[in-house]
Amino acid sequence: MKREDILAYIDEHKDRFIEELNDLLRIPSVSADPAYKDDVKRCAEVVKQRLIEAGVDKAEIHPTAGHPIVYAEKIIDPSLPTVLVYGHYDVQPADPVDLWDSPPFEPVVKDGKIYARGSADDKGQAYMHVKAFEYMTRSGELPCNVKFMIEGEEEVGSVNLGIWVKEKKEMLKADVILISDTSIIANDTPSITVGLRGLSYVEVEVTGPNRDLHSGVYGGAVANPANTLCEMIASLKDENDHITVEGFYDDVEEVSADDRAEMAKAPFDENAFKTELKINATRAENGYSPMEGSSIRPTLDVNGIWRGYIGEGAKTVLPSKAYAKISMRLVPFQKSEDITRKFKEHFERIAPDYVQVKVKELHGGEPIVIPTDFPGYVAASKAMEETFGKTPIPERGGGSIPIVALFEEVLGLKSILFGFGLNSDDIHSPNEHYGIFNFLKGIETIPLFYKHFTDSHEG
Ligand code: BES
Ligand code: MN
Ligand code: MN
Repeated sequence: MKREDILAYIDEHKDRFIEELNDLLRIPSVSADPAYKDDVKRCAEVVKQRLIEAGVDKAEIHPTAGHPIVYAEKIIDPSLPTVLVYGHYDVQPADPVDLWDSPPFEPVVKDGKIYARGSADDKGQAYMHVKAFEYMTRSGELPCNVKFMIEGEEEVGSVNLGIWVKEKKEMLKADVILISDTSIIANDTPSITVGLRGLSYVEVEVTGPNRDLHSGVYGGAVANPANTLCEMIASLKDENDHITVEGFYDDVEEVSADDRAEMAKAPFDENAFKTELKINATRAENGYSPMEGSSIRPTLDVNGIWRGYIGEGAKTVLPSKAYAKISMRLVPFQKSEDITRKFKEHFERIAPDYVQVKVKELHGGEPIVIPTDFPGYVAASKAMEETFGKTPIPERGGGSIPIVALFEEVLGLKSILFGFGLNSDDIHSPNEHYGIFNFLKGIETIPLFYKHFTDSHEG
C-alpha cells in the first residue's frame, strides 16, 4: 500500500466523497428529540447502503429499544487481525437555529469547510472510514478484516449500544477498536487522544411555593426557588474552584509532576485561545493551567437553567419551581455512579428548609486512559507521521465517549481515538463545520493505519 496511490484515488474521487457526505448531513438525525425518530432511522439505512456500496460482505440494521445500530463486516481471512470501527450517525440538536449563518441541515462549503450539524461530530469523521475502506476494497489492498458498528445514540449516552455490545460479544471479536470522534491539536500539529473524561449528568428541581406568585405581593416573604437554586449552585465550588461535594475528589488520580511537565510541552497559545473565544481571561481550578483544567481535572458545570418568565418584556413573577441541568466531567479513577450518588446526597443535604429538591440522574460514563505502547497506538502514530510529516502528540482530551470504557470492560479491547477534527469546529454549537483538509486527511491516513496494524501482527 502506497501513500501516493491513496492520494491519487482521493484526488480523483474527492468531489463525490463530499457530495456523499453532504447527502448524509441533509438527514436531521437528532437522537435526543423524538420528533426526528424517522429521520434517525432513515439515516441508519443510508449508512448501511453506503457500506454495501463500499464493499462489505454483510451489512445489517440492528434495532434497539432506542435508535438502530448499523453493523457491517468484511472478513477476508480469519487468521488476519480484525479492526472494529466505531462511529455515530446521530447528531446533537441544532438549536439555537437562529444563530446559524446557514440552515443546519443544508450543508454549504465555504472557505474549505463543510458547514452543517454533524459535519465534524460525527458523520464527517465516521464517513472517512467508509471512504478509506472503499479505497482499500477497490484497490485490492485491504490488508485485514474489518467490522463496522455505527450507532445512533452516542449523543444521548449510548445506553442501548452498551446492552447490544454485551449481547454481541462473539460477533464483535476483534483486535482493536478504531474511532474518529475527537480532535487533533492543529492541522500542522497532529495528535492522538489518549484519555477521555467520564460523565455524571443530572437534572435538579427546586420547588418553593405550590404555585407561581405575584413577586410584589409575596416577594420578601417567600423564598424564590430560582434565587435559591442559584445560591445552591454557587456553593458547589469554593474560592479555589474546588468542587465542594463531599468525597468528590476521593478517587481522583493526581497526575505526577513529571507527567504534567510532559503534557505542558503540547503547544497551547493562551492568548490565541482567549482571542478566539473573545474572553479577557481564562478560569481554571487554582493550581492548574487551563489545559489541565480541561483534561486531567474533573469539572462541574451548569448546562442549562430555567423557569420563571423568559419571554419578551417583563412579567413580575415569583416562580414556583426552578431547574438546572448539571454535568460533571470525571477523571480516572472516579466512578460515574458513585459521583452521581455523592452529588445527590450533597444537593439534598444543602437544601434550605424553605424549598424541596429532587435530583434526577440523566446519564453517565466512565473515564478512560489509553496507553501509547501497544500495537494499535504505534500503528496509528506511524500512519499520522507518514501523512502529516510529524509524529503525533499523545494528548488527554476533555470530552466524553462513554462507550469506550465499556468496550474495554466488555470486549477487552483498547480503542484508538483517531480523530481528525479541530477543537474550533464548533461541534454541539451553531455553525458546526468540518475542514475538507481534515476529511481528506483522515481518508488518506486510515488505510495506512490498517497497513501498519496488520504488519505489526505478522512481524
Ligand atoms: N465526539 C464527542 C466527544 C469529543 C469531542 C471528545 C471532542 C473529544 C473531543 C461526542 O460526540 C460527545 O459529544 N460526547 C458527549 C457525551 C455524551 C454522553 C452526550 C460529551 O462529551 O458531551
Ligand atoms: Mn461525537
Ligand atoms: Mn457530540
